[in-house]
Amino acid sequence: MSFISEEIMDYAEMHTNDEPKLLQELRKETWQKVIAPRMLSGHFQGRLLAMISKMIQPKKILEIGTFTGYATLCLAEGLTDNGTIFTIDINEELEEIQQKYFKKSGYAQQIVLLTGNALELIPRLTEGFDLVFIDADKENYSQYFELIIDKMNKGGIVLSDNVLWSGKVLNNAVKNDKDTQSLILYNQLLKDESKVETILLPIRDGISITRKL
Ligand SMILES: C[S@@+](CC[C@H](N)C(=O)[O-])C[C@H]1O[C@@H](n2cnc3c(N)ncnc32)[C@H](O)[C@@H]1O
Repeated sequence: MSFISEEIMDYAEMHTNDEPKLLQELRKETWQKVIAPRMLSGHFQGRLLAMISKMIQPKKILEIGTFTGYATLCLAEGLTDNGTIFTIDINEELEEIQQKYFKKSGYAQQIVLLTGNALELIPRLTEGFDLVFIDADKENYSQYFELIIDKMNKGGIVLSDNVLWSGKVLNNAVKNDKDTQSLILYNQLLKDESKVETILLPIRDGISITRKL
């Protein structure tokens, strides 16, 4: 969901760099062939991720929740020449489309695709991340944060997607909605954690930018 009017979003997209051809192709194929295509970042958020990554020029990125690899390729745009992006997804059925577009992109040598549960795989990764994108199951956002924060370099950035969860985070009364409850706790964790500073942007479904102090 977007909290900004459609007209303003259209105007913002029109005055944002065009979506690269390969990403247009990947977006279309995702919508044609994959279940829940709305999970893909898309043109506007993709350009935002690419811009942030280019500003940071990271050597080492971690993405939690690859899906079809759209955001992976956007984040890879900012990597240094010898930089690497590790990207994790639990759904092995996505591997064919992920690999197809990684190969076409020219970033294949810089992408390490890990298939499995991020909660089990992150502890096996060594430290030194400059940029982390948290975009997997909402219930585990706080756990992902705890697993990565000490593996991040000083000044490193954590981007967390969907932190407004269609506005449901405003509703404290939700009893059986674990995703919303977890995101409410996660947003508070980012605010209270003394190791970081955070700004929550009401762009698209809400994106937090968190910087390790
Ligand atoms: C919102 S999608 C990611 C979208 C992608 N980052 C993008 O912007 O195009 C979430 C992904 O997280 C994956 N996922 C869910 N739980 C996971 C887990 N425990 N470990 C790893 N991946 C998980 C799902 O399979 C799904 O592909």
